[in-house]
Amino acid sequence: MINRRQFIRGGVLTAGATALAPNWVYAQKDGPEYFTLAVLPDTQNYSYRHPDIYTGQTRWLKENAEKYRIPFVCHEGDIVQNNDVFEWERAVVSHKELDGNLPYGLNVGNHDFNWTWVNGKRGEMIRDVCRIDQFFPPSKFEKESWWGGCFENRNHNSYQYFDAPGGLKFLVLNIEFAPRDVALDWGTAVIKKHPDHRVIVVTHAYMDNDDTRLGDGDRGVKQYFPDDNDGDSMWEKLVRKHKNIFLVLSGHICKDSRNNFKFDTSYTETGLLTSKGDHGNDVHQILADYQKRPNGGDGFLRLMRFTPEKNEIDVRTYSPFKDEWLTASHNQFTLSYSMT
Ligand SMILES: [Fe+2]
Repeated sequence: MINRRQFIRGGVLTAGATALAPNWVYAQKDGPEYFTLAVLPDTQNYSYRHPDIYTGQTRWLKENAEKYRIPFVCHEGDIVQNNDVFEWERAVVSHKELDGNLPYGLNVGNHDFNWTWVNGKRGEMIRDVCRIDQFFPPSKFEKESWWGGCFENRNHNSYQYFDAPGGLKFLVLNIEFAPRDVALDWGTAVIKKHPDHRVIVVTHAYMDNDDTRLGDGDRGVKQYFPDDNDGDSMWEKLVRKHKNIFLVLSGHICKDSRNNFKFDTSYTETGLLTSKGDHGNDVHQILADYQKRPNGGDGFLRLMRFTPEKNEIDVRTYSPFKDEWLTASHNQFTLSYSMT
């Protein structure tokens, strides 16, 4: 049974906090216990050209937190398109809907870094220059009970907590784009400090849209930072080693590099691979990135309903902008995950 004292209004779960919101009391009477992890795929086109869609997503999550019992919102990176001030200002406006209402993590993607420009064309990516440091610094979050910490005092690598029905404890580990070994070492230390937490890794570029991890020969990571890590090396150095990692979420891939960079909604924007970790644990690795749809992505986001008594995670894809669900099997599926 749920300990009602674990909940506070708006879907934030914190031990010993105030009483459960009335809508959630009613929801508990009618069915199995559940909660819903919300996931925002790449928002770069919204920050750049469609800010109302981004804000529509976060506002919908806030307004539906009780209905869906949302304890936390993940962001898969590429918050903005060009690391311009106006884009970050728009992202701040969008996330104001969540501030004080719903805990969230942010993730740094390749478009969140700066670039050199040569004759009007992008040159090299500059990892060190990212306006997340200005607009979403750790100091914005450090007072929150759900904030865990970050690496190098920057929000490029961070972790957060949420609790869930049945006393389940979760940790969300956000790892930078093309992570440096030192970032993976930091993530390893965080996980080792939390053996009683269930760990969700969020990183911008990890899965490809052919249901494999990004690895040798794949475009999207190594051409920017050849000495740093892609999906395959993250798996080897971090993900496979820890028995409490059960989920990896990523975005970034939206075109098929094997098919002349064509876009096809039937496969291009999603990916799913379940692998066995070194301790025999199943690790579900999921890609979702709708940015090539009209209006910069048409506002689609992921809602992952965890039902502990069924040991299942139901993944759904919904757009508050279109009020539409994507129901094909690559956008609506059920995963097994032991929670009992
Ligand atoms: Fe990206």
